[in-house]
Amino acid sequence: MAATPPHSDVAVIGAGLWGLASAWATAEAGARVLVLDDGEELAGQVAAGMVAPWSEVEDDEHPLHAALRDGASAWPALAERLRAASDVDPGFRRTGSLAVAARPAHLGQVRRLREVLRRVDHDATWLTGTALREREPGLGPSVAGGLELADEGQADPRRTLAALRAACERAGVRIEHRRVAALRRTGGTVTGLVTDDGTRIDAERVVLAAGWACGALDDRVPLRPVKGQILTLGPRPDAPTPIRRIIRTPDVYLVPRPDGRVLVGATSEEVGDRVVTAEAVHLLLDEALHTVPGLGALELVEQRAGLRPATPDGLPALGVSADDGLAWAAGGYRHGVLLLPLVVAAAEALAGGRALPGRRDALSPDRFAAARPKAASCV
Ligand code: GLY
Repeated sequence: MAATPPHSDVAVIGAGLWGLASAWATAEAGARVLVLDDGEELAGQVAAGMVAPWSEVEDDEHPLHAALRDGASAWPALAERLRAASDVDPGFRRTGSLAVAARPAHLGQVRRLREVLRRVDHDATWLTGTALREREPGLGPSVAGGLELADEGQADPRRTLAALRAACERAGVRIEHRRVAALRRTGGTVTGLVTDDGTRIDAERVVLAAGWACGALDDRVPLRPVKGQILTLGPRPDAPTPIRRIIRTPDVYLVPRPDGRVLVGATSEEVGDRVVTAEAVHLLLDEALHTVPGLGALELVEQRAGLRPATPDGLPALGVSADDGLAWAAGGYRHGVLLLPLVVAAAEALAGGRALPGRRDALSPDRFAAARPKAASCV
């Protein structure tokens, strides 16, 4: 293996979706980029990849909503650009989605979603169970009504990771599997890092993109893991996939891939292990089969648990800290795939020496500073 260069323009910590996107965008802008990754499982390998800015909205006034809409509208161009840069299709498809009530208790929640969408001028028509079954005959008799969100879609996170890896390689990014032990600062500015074998690497910019594990290197953004368990069902010769659109109820989402697989997700647990539990498999399958009974004949081909990186306000940390110049690309939480275009835009701004476009304060890595114990800022 060639020796690590003593100096990079940009050192990115983390080779997940956000780390590779940051590396690719800065390398395309002309930087010499090194990515260091600890080899831990990536959240992007487990994610469903919904590009669904409407059906996950809980509060139309939260700045997250505008970020989700920006991410969704930029995805088609990003998919094209990434495909051209890598010759790998990241699997972006506008399959549309249905947000449905499959239990009596869901009706109020789906109606509330409709009200929230109205307030942001996204008028989704209420469809009866019969009208929904005309669109998706696989929906079961318990589905009583819901909304069609035709412009929602998905990308395939594993294909997107593969595309980003190939694009990084073509752009000259070096990726090394080494654990970073600490950041290095000179005169209060981050100027590099030290790997766990003691190697010092200088960099003009360090981008922290290690998901919830960023906290081990710098605690200004409080990140925690939120476990999500997700299943994959595969079609069988006599049991084809019974849905074409993304189907979601308040308790489960079903994401059909073009190859016939269906992802069934996901739990949301405030724990940091990756154990797949019998209880979660039972709950997810129960909700999935209650909503689309035909899924019961498919093969259970995979069960995984991923750790979403979550901040206290549910917003990511994107951009450069005014404190010490450390750049952040972390905290995608439930929207790591959907927000990927914002990560690319942030990396381009970084490479060009510009500020992050739009919503600077809402996404700033410094926004938690007031809540942070004083001693931590001296690390
Ligand atoms: N965006 C769906 C999830 O995180 O489960």
